[in-house]
Amino acid sequence: MVARDADGVLAGAIRYWPVSIVGDQTHAALLLGPIAVHPTRQGEGLGGLLIRQSLGVAAQFGWERVVLVGDAPYYQRFGFTQLDGVVMPPPTNPDRVLAFSQGNGAWRGVAGKVRRYDGA
Ligand SMILES: CC(C)(COP(=O)(O)OP(=O)(O)OC[C@H]1O[C@@H](n2cnc3c(N)ncnc32)[C@H](O)[C@@H]1OP(=O)(O)O)[C@@H](O)C(=O)NCCC(=O)NCCS
Repeated sequence: MVARDADGVLAGAIRYWPVSIVGDQTHAALLLGPIAVHPTRQGEGLGGLLIRQSLGVAAQFGWERVVLVGDAPYYQRFGFTQLDGVVMPPPTNPDRVLAFSQGNGAWRGVAGKVRRYDGA
C-alpha cells in the first residue's frame, strides 16, 4: 500500500509478505515490513494511517496474525506486543520481534522458525 500526495508524489509505503512459522505445527502469518515514510512527511500520521489501513485490509483477506521486527515504542500503539517463541532468521534481536493479532488469541500456541511461505 502506498500513500501519495495530491500531485502523485510518493509519501510513504508499507509492504507485507506471507510467511510460515514452522514448529511442531505450521502456521501462516503476515510479515510486516518495510514501512517507510518520506523524511519530509514524517510525524504527520502517515505511518499510522498506512499501518491501520493495511491491517484492516489484511483482516478482510483473513490474515489473523502479523509479525514484524521493529521498535516496540512505535508499534505498541497499534496493538503489537513482544512475541516469544517465534524466531526470525539471525541476526535478529528477539526483543524486537513483535506480534499483532486480528482476533483474540491468534498467536496462542504458535511457535517456531519464520520461513518462506509454503501455503500452510
Ligand atoms: C517509522 C516511520 C514509518 C513512522 O512514520 P510516521 O509517518 O513518521 O509516523 P506517525 O506520524 O504515524 O507517528 C509519529 C510518531 O511516532 C513516533 N516514532 C516514530 N518512529 C519511532 C520509533 N522508532 N520509536 C518510537 N517512536 C517513534 C514519533 O516520535 C511520533 O511520535 P508522537 O506521535 O508522539 O509525536 C517513519 O518514521 C520512517 O519511515 N522511518 C524510517 C524508516 C523506518 O525506521 N521504518 C521502520 C522500520 S522497522
